[in-house]
Amino acid sequence: MKLAVIGGGSTYTPELIDGFARLRDDLPLTEIALVDPDATRLELVAGVSRRMLAKAGHPARVVATADLAEGVRGAQAVLFQLRVGGQAARNVDETFPLQCGCVGQETTGAGGLAKALRTVPLVLELAAQVKEHAPGAWIVDFTNPVGIVTRALLDAGHRAIGLCNVAIGFQRRFAKHLGVEPSRVELGHVGLNHLTWERSVHVDGEDVLPDLLAQHGQAIADDLHLPLELIQRLKVVPSYYLRYFYQHDIVVEEQRSAPSRASEVAAMEEQLLKMYADPAVDTKPELLSKRGGAFYSEAAVALISSLLGDRGDVQVVNTRNNGTLPFLGDEAVIEVPAKITAAGAVPLPVEPVEPLYRGLIAGVSAYEELALQAALHGGEGRVRDALLAHPLVGQEAIAAELTRLMLERQS
Ligand code: G6P
Ligand code: MN
Repeated sequence: MKLAVIGGGSTYTPELIDGFARLRDDLPLTEIALVDPDATRLELVAGVSRRMLAKAGHPARVVATADLAEGVRGAQAVLFQLRVGGQAARNVDETFPLQCGCVGQETTGAGGLAKALRTVPLVLELAAQVKEHAPGAWIVDFTNPVGIVTRALLDAGHRAIGLCNVAIGFQRRFAKHLGVEPSRVELGHVGLNHLTWERSVHVDGEDVLPDLLAQHGQAIADDLHLPLELIQRLKVVPSYYLRYFYQHDIVVEEQRSAPSRASEVAAMEEQLLKMYADPAVDTKPELLSKRGGAFYSEAAVALISSLLGDRGDVQVVNTRNNGTLPFLGDEAVIEVPAKITAAGAVPLPVEPVEPLYRGLIAGVSAYEELALQAALHGGEGRVRDALLAHPLVGQEAIAAELTRLMLERQS
């Protein structure tokens, strides 16, 4: 079985390789093609990947190439994990909104829009090449902003599913608190990518969320940097991306006096690449656990093996709404538990969503629709509309100024 990774030169790749090595029975890979335009990075990452697989006794061959056609030919699944412009572009996304008193984040708010504008056209171009050279292959998109990128791929007729590690992260953390195997923990996860709430946590058919909050509420709140009182009152667990909404102004104040995440990650990447260059390094460096993508490999392996193996199990993915959340259009992309078979993802039915969350989901979904229009067709007006619709922006003067700053930096 062949798998291709677009953006294979990412410093995250050893995280994936580690998962492929550990979970080889679930996903019997014979070839992994790492596709990346950055030859230097690609060579270092491919080198450590080969050493990791050899050490684990995994038979897969690692091919490193800048040629997408060569990389994807014969692949049954293609993982998109690219970051246009690297950490430098991310740094811009995380800092320019602060000038307008808005949160600086690479997927939420104006930063997320800036990222969508430069990412969607490239992803669509690459996906068209995938379709040509690996017709029928599944595209698993980890490229942010995942909700918008996945919708772009689906609208263009690709076999695509969006993936994020937030849900699997909660599943693993809750399992640890509860002292059970992660596979027994089923999340009542609902919302959009990076805008989700856990409304239930089932273990063997019983909702243990109330107990989980009673016993481990403080640890959960501390992880999210949100007040315990809020979580106890809501009786749900919001993802840490909700902090950008629930504590927007506090986050802006913090960000004004702290280094950007992009600059922290850039420093980590420099160190990681040095490690990958060392022929003695043949395991996943501990430093990778400081990145946000923990458990990403496990989620990717589970999704690909269910798509290719027609497993029919339930996983949290980004896919078409198709009536699941009746207050959104069918075409919207949502992040919910879905049954995964060879035919793709079908969301499980979702209990009616409370107005407390419904409004925010609807507002951000409308923003995503407008953001996609802006990314596809360009134009200052479309960018301003998307920002005007975003619940974290809304004011016309701020939308106009953010648009000016964003377009000035992208040209
Ligand atoms: C989480 C998110 C990803 C995001 C990552 C950033 O894993 O789910 O969508 O890309 O965090 O991690 P970083 O270490 O780059 O800040
Ligand atoms: Mn994510």
